[in-house]
Amino acid sequence: MAQRTKRRPSLRQPTRRVLVLHGPNLNLLGAREPHVYGRATLADINHQLAQLARELGLELETFQSNSEGALVDRIQAARGTADAIVINAGAYTHTSVAIRDALLAGALPVVEVHLSNTYKRETFRHRSLIADIAVGQIVGFGADSYLLGLRAAAGWLERQDNR
Ligand code: DQA
Repeated sequence: MAQRTKRRPSLRQPTRRVLVLHGPNLNLLGAREPHVYGRATLADINHQLAQLARELGLELETFQSNSEGALVDRIQAARGTADAIVINAGAYTHTSVAIRDALLAGALPVVEVHLSNTYKRETFRHRSLIADIAVGQIVGFGADSYLLGLRAAAGWLERQDNR
């Protein structure tokens, strides 16, 4: 006899909001060391992220700053306005206790991304002050690192919803 799988009543989940943060010097993408970071500009990357967010049914906000304090302020403001953070903290990744502390205080799931494979580069880039408090890290795929990061954040949020 055919068996009917009982469908769970469809409880519509609220739209999930993801904040993508870009740290110092990432405003220069496209022109900055293209052999390391590729030719895509920050505007190109944000455009691709917006497209993917629409496909995934996410609300997206992007923010870039060269200033550590502005990034800390934006992370603090994400409490209550975002459900997850995707962050490329640029050079602050390797130095900023302030950004780490802000991420910890916000207690949101964090996906760390880097365009370059930081582990193949200078040893000072091998240390991340974010990696051990992040859900995960994606490095080395150029602009695609961000897209993979957004997918990872969406997957993480979906798994939470289904728990
Ligand atoms: C970077 C890697 C960092 O070491 C560097 O300082 C950057 C970019 C990346 O995306 O590969 O600014 O975060």
